[in-house]
Amino acid sequence: MDEREEKRSEAHRDGANVALPAGDAYHVPVMVREVVESMAPAFDGVLFDGTAGGGGHSQALLEHYPELEVIAVDRDPEAIAALRLRLAPFGDRVRLVQARFDEAALRALTEGVVLAGALLDLGLSSRQIDEPERGFTFRDEAPLDARMEGAAGEGPTAADILNSWSEEELALLFWRLAEEPRGRALARAVVARRLAAPFASAADLNEVLADLYRRPLRAKEKARVYQGLRIAVNRELEALTQALPALRDALRPGGILAVLSYHSLEDREVKNTFREWSRSCVCPPELLQCRCRGHALGTLVTRSVVKPSEAEVAANPRARSARFRVWRKAA
Ligand SMILES: C[S@@+](CC[C@H](N)C(=O)[O-])C[C@H]1O[C@@H](n2cnc3c(N)ncnc32)[C@H](O)[C@@H]1O
Repeated sequence: MDEREEKRSEAHRDGANVALPAGDAYHVPVMVREVVESMAPAFDGVLFDGTAGGGGHSQALLEHYPELEVIAVDRDPEAIAALRLRLAPFGDRVRLVQARFDEAALRALTEGVVLAGALLDLGLSSRQIDEPERGFTFRDEAPLDARMEGAAGEGPTAADILNSWSEEELALLFWRLAEEPRGRALARAVVARRLAAPFASAADLNEVLADLYRRPLRAKEKARVYQGLRIAVNRELEALTQALPALRDALRPGGILAVLSYHSLEDREVKNTFREWSRSCVCPPELLQCRCRGHALGTLVTRSVVKPSEAEVAANPRARSARFRVWRKAA
């Protein structure tokens, strides 16, 4: 075993002793132990944390793997400010980047940065959800905003989408992204309501939902609709689809790509992508001779999806929907 291999296996052995980071007022990181253990082959070099948020995962990784450097990316300027404080003790082992992770991944690739590992912990931080003024919540007083960049964001807000998208576009959004069983009827009701007055606050949308269902909706039902809107506002699926191949290409041989997702569409995208990359032949079945790349680009580390333990969900109910998948680039 050479020195590098020895260190790697040492790092792996120590996985059971992962120290969970303290001070998670911003966001309680999910499946920290599993994330840190999955990165054992990436124990040294540069790790790309594309959704650094409150910094819980980055901190745990930096503490556990002393030879690791982290590019900590987040599109939310408030997260970058929190990360600056939290990760300050690691000095120049950390580089902060305020950007979308797909843009940052492409930039890393074109600049020739070689990554030992990459982590995406998709969705929102607790801080974003819990601050009504950010407009991610269905609380009546919240503005319909939902831009992860906050006021600095260029894209449309949730209100802009409700006030301007066609009925067909809204129906697709509610049906596909919000998995809203009455998506088409909701789209029709939104279009009818905005003729009277434009949407501005969550109260406006909650009223439309209550009228449609002829009862106040349960929190879970409302949350689904707001989640779909947020995914559309931030073009979250597009960012994921573009980031995955860029991160794969930036990984060093044997590098690790790990994704935590919280929405079935995101998890499906990750599952299908990792499976496709792990197949040795991707020719259509009717071709008699292989004409494709003819070798797997890597292997599935998690053969099936990994979910948080019952104990973790009991301690942190927001971890409930987490789905973890890990892929390793061929050596
Ligand atoms: C679930 S939190 C991550 C929490 C983090 N792992 C921690 O330990 O605190 C998701 C974070 O990713 C950010 N985010 C989501 N989509 C993003 C994207 N496309 N590009 C950059 N940041 C993104 C959000 O702003 C949020 O801060």
